[in-house]
Amino acid sequence: MTDLKGLILSGGKGTRLRPITHTSAKQLVPVANKPVLFYGIEAMADAGVTEIGIIIAPETGPEIEAAAGDGSRFGVEISYIVQDEPLGLAHAVLTAEPFLGESPFVMYLGDNLLQGGISDLVAAFREHSPDALILLTPVPDPENFGVAELAPPDSSSPGDVGRVVRLIEKPTEPATDLALVGVYMFTAQIHDAARAIEPSARGELEITDAIQHLVDGGKRVEPHIVRGWWKDTGRLDDMLEANRLILDNLTERVQGELIDSQVDGRVVIEPGARLERTTVRGPAIVGAGAQLRDCYIGPYTAIGESCRIANAEVEHSILLEGSSVCDLDGRMESSLLGRNVTVRRSDRQPRAYRFMVGDNSDISIL
Ligand code: DAU
Repeated sequence: MTDLKGLILSGGKGTRLRPITHTSAKQLVPVANKPVLFYGIEAMADAGVTEIGIIIAPETGPEIEAAAGDGSRFGVEISYIVQDEPLGLAHAVLTAEPFLGESPFVMYLGDNLLQGGISDLVAAFREHSPDALILLTPVPDPENFGVAELAPPDSSSPGDVGRVVRLIEKPTEPATDLALVGVYMFTAQIHDAARAIEPSARGELEITDAIQHLVDGGKRVEPHIVRGWWKDTGRLDDMLEANRLILDNLTERVQGELIDSQVDGRVVIEPGARLERTTVRGPAIVGAGAQLRDCYIGPYTAIGESCRIANAEVEHSILLEGSSVCDLDGRMESSLLGRNVTVRRSDRQPRAYRFMVGDNSDISIL
């Protein structure tokens, strides 16, 4: 097989994570203080896929290029491919055709996280040489994904999960709970399939329809059921959940300064962070240069670089760099703060809530 290339899709609009994505690409929102996109690049590098194209949108592309660079620090070579408009995943593939040429490739959605990487899948793809390989996993809300119907498995071949019969993008009445995971492996035949389909009701050229076109043409589309966890980080709850899953595998490392402070469990304190009279209960990560005073940081919290927290309790939350949280009465929980956000209690009279928040923000008060 000609050597595999990698294609990561980091264009699109990111409407479900607004307002964070008004100012930043959704693929750069950090999970355990590392941009989601980097997990995909690292998964490819680990699987030996070193020639990677990243699809970017004109608006957020420069920021993605600045963050991932030429790929050398991941041991890969990155080319950036501008998709002028987010016209669908199959449209993104067609946009990347000059980069992909005749090569087979692994496609990874830039806002997806897959436990355990892709090395086994790349090996299966090389070994079985199907026309395409898709990943599936049962989910509680299949109507939000591409959904697969499989034929009954062949009982004479152990491990067989059944042939792909039908794939439908976000069906209102899903026939199964098997969602398409955002990692796919294709041969160059996908380009003709993408050219053959029409835009869907949401106006996009769907990769799901292009794969169905392969199935209809009698091509071999091999389904794999994902064994570990998988997350599409497009929504706040999924983002927090991804953060929780990644932090669960943290290796303890304390490099910052602890003054009358205590860390319990799997905790990372980056260099230059300073904790005073503070307790951190892991799994949690505190970024470089963060300043924490008189706080309690609870499990599943990721505090970005240079954040400041004083007289406050924070748990199960993500704080992007430069944010500050001070003098809270209650505990802040299940929250996502963007960059340079300030949350504080003020002594001004009359006692009232006072906000300056961007469009599409979401605030819950008891
Ligand atoms: O997460 C898995 C799901 O991803 C699959 O189950 C669906 O079948 C598949 O269509 C896709 O659905 P989404 O609606 O979640 O895709 P989304 O619009 O979030 O785009 C996924 C990634 O691809 C995201 O990083 C943005 C990027 N993208 C998206 C579009 C529409 C592009 O680069 N270009 C595009 O035109």
